[in-house]
Amino acid sequence: MSKGATKEELEAGRGYEALFVPALFAPWTHHLIRGARAAEGQSVLDVACGSGVLARDVRSRTGPAGRVVGLDPAPGMIAAASEIEPGIEWVSGAVEDLPFEDGTFDCVVSQFGMMFFQDKAKAASEMRRVIKPGGHLAVAVWNSLDSNPAYNDIIAVLDERVSTEAGDALRLPYSLGDADAAVSVFEGAGFEAAAFETRTEQARFPTSRTMVEAELRGWLPLFGITLSEEKIAEVLVQSDSRLAAYASGNGEAVFPTSAHIITAKAPA
Ligand SMILES: C[S@@+](CC[C@H](N)C(=O)[O-])C[C@H]1O[C@@H](n2cnc3c(N)ncnc32)[C@H](O)[C@@H]1O
Repeated sequence: MSKGATKEELEAGRGYEALFVPALFAPWTHHLIRGARAAEGQSVLDVACGSGVLARDVRSRTGPAGRVVGLDPAPGMIAAASEIEPGIEWVSGAVEDLPFEDGTFDCVVSQFGMMFFQDKAKAASEMRRVIKPGGHLAVAVWNSLDSNPAYNDIIAVLDERVSTEAGDALRLPYSLGDADAAVSVFEGAGFEAAAFETRTEQARFPTSRTMVEAELRGWLPLFGITLSEEKIAEVLVQSDSRLAAYASGNGEAVFPTSAHIITAKAPA
């Protein structure tokens, strides 16, 4: 056990950090840091911090005079984050009920968590509440699946070989592709100058199999979908051929990913 996490939860957090962070999430942190105008000496909250990649990069921007807090409800993520970087404050909690006083932070950042927030309006109003007057927000959400072709291909295999429910589990992270709708959630919470820009970064997995297998064994069970070994083998054979287009010379799966960076300001 570590920080309230079971051994399995901690292993899941470590596994996320080892595979998904370098492959998919690390390339995005600089967009959030720039979008939130995070600067030396500031206090910054990373909401839905996962294993902490963004909070760690924010910390290298704010320096030792700043304060960086990472918050996430998943005990395994918080345990992995604090194992990797004990020098940051890691807090267990959900965005809908942030355990901070009003006006605590100069900036709030969040990457690829908003799609999972149960109550998005409450989440936005909590983020607005904890930002100081005139402080900045930056939130990343994935663009639609049309702009994220590799995941579109995996979903097609899941729909075909497993079930629509399995496909839907993988569609969830792409459910805020309409950035205008996400922007209006922040406007509704009282933010000013809410806007977005759409950016592309390269994802790079060791192999396409590693990527698909992690979704089958790690993500689908969170939705109550557990596949037999035979079914996993069948899906992997199918996805090998669908994803062949992304194979580089050394066997890595390399493909473009597209996301919206939403920025906004708390009224002064
Ligand atoms: C795809 S991960 C992104 C993690 C991290 N930001 C990164 O870039 O690696 C999504 C995270 O959202 C968190 N999450 C889900 N629901 C949440 C909620 N209601 N409040 C805060 N975080 C939440 C999950 O626990 C998970 O760690």
